[in-house]
Amino acid sequence: MEECPLPGENKGKEVAPQRILVTGGAGYIGSHTCKQLHLAGFEPVTYDDLSRGHISLVRYGPFLQGRLHDRKALRAALNEVQPIACMHFAAFAYVAESVSNPELYYENNVAGSLALLQELVAANVKLLVFSSTCAVYGQADKVPIGEDEPKRPLSPYGRSKLIVEEMLADFDRAHALRSVSLRYFNACGADLDGEIGEIHDPEPHIVPRALMAATGTIPHFEVLGVDYPTLDGTAVRDYTHVIDLAQAHVAALHYLLNGGATDSMNLGIGRGYSVREVLDSVERVTGLKIPIKIGPRREGDPAEVTANPTKARRILGFEPKYTDLDVMVQTAWRWFRRHHDSRT
Ligand SMILES: NC(=O)c1ccc[n+]([C@@H]2O[C@H](COP(=O)([O-])OP(=O)(O)OC[C@H]3O[C@@H](n4cnc5c(N)ncnc54)[C@H](O)[C@@H]3O)[C@@H](O)[C@H]2O)c1
Repeated sequence: MEECPLPGENKGKEVAPQRILVTGGAGYIGSHTCKQLHLAGFEPVTYDDLSRGHISLVRYGPFLQGRLHDRKALRAALNEVQPIACMHFAAFAYVAESVSNPELYYENNVAGSLALLQELVAANVKLLVFSSTCAVYGQADKVPIGEDEPKRPLSPYGRSKLIVEEMLADFDRAHALRSVSLRYFNACGADLDGEIGEIHDPEPHIVPRALMAATGTIPHFEVLGVDYPTLDGTAVRDYTHVIDLAQAHVAALHYLLNGGATDSMNLGIGRGYSVREVLDSVERVTGLKIPIKIGPRREGDPAEVTANPTKARRILGFEPKYTDLDVMVQTAWRWFRRHHDSRT
């Protein structure tokens, strides 16, 4: 297959940047990826219905408001933008909500993705990078988790993502739509310049919740389980800085542009931090004490979930740079203060 010119290769000639349609670009990981796409010479065009996103996070390219299921709006967007590829972040991502309201997740994540894939094929856009998740594995038999481990998602959320991965394999066979599904473990941190960061409501993720508890935004941080068979008894997870995730999307795009085949791969740093280690880091970085409440383990929460990222390293050259826990927390803290100051 013919190699596509890389951004910057056409120096001297006036060339418009190649556009990428970014669904969910007004969300946390999507907005950081828009910045990295912009820095790499692409033009990210966000397509988002703002159901859970924020217009203030759309800073690096145009914005089109629309829902995945709105075929007319999506078709018009594809017609106007003429993207060379799509990055698909738009989804709902609360595990507990998906258990109590599965139809919402199949409707939004599965039916929404199907509408997108059909419109992409109709518009002849044949490259896609998809936000998948380690939730597709469920309770893995061993850690670190490799891509070949059995896929036994424990929640409708995890199942909705696995179904889309399978749809993508079918769309490649039938319509030559090539894709990379990136299975993130736990995203954290924020933009190094403090321009964008994480905004979820409610906020389920550990670092922002610990910051909320440290600053009195919530009364305490609840540690769910201190009797796991881990070094300090608390659960261990693989945390990946959002900038490393965002850069992996740009690498996946280059891989597809250079003829890469449809594939799925883990994005994690390959080592875990315990809840206790994260809380210690938040206290160190902020200089504040976190009020803690100890609760029981949550059903179905494994002791340790870490990624084997060897495949992404081999195929995408994925070498995460911001693996130090204090750096992850420092960037999140800078964003947290800025965001909260701007709201008061
Ligand atoms: N945050 C994590 O740690 C994590 C881990 C694994 C996978 N993921 C996946 O990564 C993706 C992005 O996660 P995030 O944390 O940035 O989420 P987010 O909620 O911050 O962003 C999702 C964006 O998608 C938009 N959206 C949702 N449904 C839509 C629809 N039907 N039409 C148009 N727009 C819609 C929302 O408005 C929001 O801006 C999601 O697909 C999520 O499942 C996230």
